[in-house]
Amino acid sequence: MNQRTVLVTGATGYIASHVCVLLLQRGFEVIGLDNLSNSTVDVLERVREIAGRPIPFMQADVRDTRTLSEVLAGRRVEAVLHFAGLKSVSESVAQPLSYFDNNVHGTVTLLQAMSLAQVKRLIFSSSATVYGQPEVVPIQESARVSVTNPYGRSKLFVEEILADLHRSDSTWSIGVLRYFNPVGAHSSGLIGEKPKGTPNNLMPYIAEVAVGLRPYVSVFGGDYPTADGTGVRDYIHVMDLAEAHVAALEHLLGGNPGFTLNVGTGRGYSVLEVIRAYERASGRPIPHKIVARRPGDVAECFADPTAAQELLGWSARLPLDRMCADQWRWQQHKESHQQEGSAPTPRGR
Ligand code: NAD
Ligand code: WQD
Repeated sequence: MNQRTVLVTGATGYIASHVCVLLLQRGFEVIGLDNLSNSTVDVLERVREIAGRPIPFMQADVRDTRTLSEVLAGRRVEAVLHFAGLKSVSESVAQPLSYFDNNVHGTVTLLQAMSLAQVKRLIFSSSATVYGQPEVVPIQESARVSVTNPYGRSKLFVEEILADLHRSDSTWSIGVLRYFNPVGAHSSGLIGEKPKGTPNNLMPYIAEVAVGLRPYVSVFGGDYPTADGTGVRDYIHVMDLAEAHVAALEHLLGGNPGFTLNVGTGRGYSVLEVIRAYERASGRPIPHKIVARRPGDVAECFADPTAAQELLGWSARLPLDRMCADQWRWQQHKESHQQEGSAPTPRGR
C-alpha cells in the first residue's frame, strides 16, 4: 500500500475535491486544508463516500503561516497541491487587494512554511487567463503572457515568484498547471461545482437555466470571427483535470524537475455548441438570446496540449457530451437536496 502523503489546499473547493477523490483512490494519504470562504465542509463526507476513505481536514487560511508550519511539521508531507485562492475575474476588478492578498500573499506564506518544513514539491493551479488575448490558437506554453485583470495578474505574479524561487534554490520542484475551462462533475453526481449567487461561467449558468432557476442564457456576442459567431473555449472535464494532477504529482515524486504545462483538450467549442450539447444531455430546451459581447472576452482560446502528453503521458479523454451529462447529474442531485430544505427561488438575470 502506497503511503505517500500530500497536503491539498482549497481541498473543499470544486476542482480540489475531485482531485482528492482520485488521490485517495490511487493510494495517497491526503490532508485537506481550506478556510471555507467559497465551499462547505460537507463535501468531504461525499468525497469519503466515493473514495471509501476519509480525509483529515483543517479549517485554516493559507495566509496563516503558523498553522501551516504545524500541519507540515506534524506529518511527512511529500508534496503540496495548492488550489486555495479566489477565482472571479469580475470580483478581482472590484477588489484587487483581496485577490493579491489571498492569491499572492497566500502563496508566499505557504511557500515559507514549506521551506521551513523542507517540503519542496508543489503543484500550482494556474490558468489560461495568463495568455490574455492570445495571438495564435492553439496556444503553446511558450506563447506571450499578457494579463488583463487582477485575477490573471495574481496568477502570473505567482508563476514568476515560483520561477524566482526555483532559480534561487534548484532543490524545489514545482509543477505549474495552466487550466483552460474546467467543467463537469464526478460521475456519481455527489460532488460538483457550487457557485454562490449568479454563476459567472457558462456551463453552471446553462445548468441553472435547464432547471428553471433562470429564464435564458445570455450569449455574450454573436459576431466573433468564429464558425457560428460565438466565443470558442477549451472545456475540459474536471476528472480529466484531476488525472492531470495525479500524473503531474507522480512526475515530481519520481524526482523529475518542474514544469509549466497547459491542461486542456486541444479542441474548442462555441457557446452555441455547448448549449446544444447540454440540451442533449438534459433532454430540456435551453432558451438563449444573443446579447452584447462581455468586456475582456476573447474570440477563441484553446490549448495545444502536446507538452503535457509528451512529459506526463497525460491527455484528456472525456468528450463534451460527457462533461454535460455529468454536470447535469450533479445539478439534479443539488436540486433534490435543496428541495428537501427550502425550494429555490427562480431568478432572472
Ligand atoms: P473554488 O472556489 O471552488 O475552490 C477554491 C477553494 O479555496 C475554496 O474552497 C475556498 O474556500 C478556498 N480558499 C480561498 N482562499 C483561501 C485561503 N486564503 N486559505 C484557504 N483556503 C482558501 O475554485 P476552483 O474552481 O476549485 O479553483 C481552484 C483553483 O484553480 C483556484 O486557484 C483557481 O484560481 C484555479 N483555476 C480555476 C479555474 C476554474 O475555471 N474553475 C480555472 C483556472 C484556474
Ligand atoms: C466561456 C464562454 C463567454 C457566460 C473564465 C475565466 C478564466 C478561467 C475560466 C479561472 C465565453 C460565454 C459565458 C454566459 C456566455 N477561470 N458566456 N454567457 O471567460 O473563458 O474563462 O473561466 O482561472 O480565467 O476568465 O469562461 O465560462 O465565463 O465563458 O455567452 O452567461 O461562454 O463569453 O465565450 P472564460 P466562461
